[in-house]
Amino acid sequence: MNLLVTAGPTREMLDPVRFFSNRSTGKMGFAVASVAACHGHNVRLIAGPVALATPEGVERIDVISARDMLAAVEKNLDGCDALVMTAAVADWRPCHENAQKLKKGTMSPVIELEPNPDILKTIAPRKGKKIFVGFAAETENLLAEAQRKLVEKKLDLLVANDVSCHDSGFEVETNRVIFFTPGNPPEHLPLMRKSEVAERIVEWLGRRPS
Ligand code: CTP
Repeated sequence: MNLLVTAGPTREMLDPVRFFSNRSTGKMGFAVASVAACHGHNVRLIAGPVALATPEGVERIDVISARDMLAAVEKNLDGCDALVMTAAVADWRPCHENAQKLKKGTMSPVIELEPNPDILKTIAPRKGKKIFVGFAAETENLLAEAQRKLVEKKLDLLVANDVSCHDSGFEVETNRVIFFTPGNPPEHLPLMRKSEVAERIVEWLGRRPS
């Protein structure tokens, strides 16, 4: 299969030294890319700013902002069989990116934000027979929110994780996830290493619905 994987956070610049972002390290997406390449798939990895080495056999495209990531996904979507969106895309960006560093003496304490595009929703019309896998990072109402995202984002698989736990989600090696697929009850997986979660996702892709 030709796989397109996104990973890491995006970064929304306020000025040359400050940005809005989130706690994603990219580990989950890099694990998916690495495992998929080991299984012989062709993998293109679109990575936000992360401190991780490119997995062997994986073609990497680095991006900074949500809009850069959307452009990279749009450019690389044709010809891919499956898209795995593990990226924690920033939903908002500052309305103005200042060319020079803002000085505390003159800076306003209020920063105006505007919404970023939703990548999955933007590309949904181009889905066709491609498999779309999304992730959901939640701190409350995990089951309901995951189910909503599965439907709203027209996904074939939604991997939900509770990011408020100390051993699952951001900045750790392990994850406790639930697989949501249309028309089926949620499948709860035990706590496992992110590489093992990646194995499960790649296995699922191998048995993908046609
Ligand atoms: N996603 C996306 N574009 C965005 C935000 C998220 O494509 N602008 C993708 C993520 O890569 C993930 C899925 O949508 O696969 C769910 O992301 P998540 O951050 O959990 O949810 P949001 O869509 O941001 O919704 P909410 O803010 O209501 O949690």
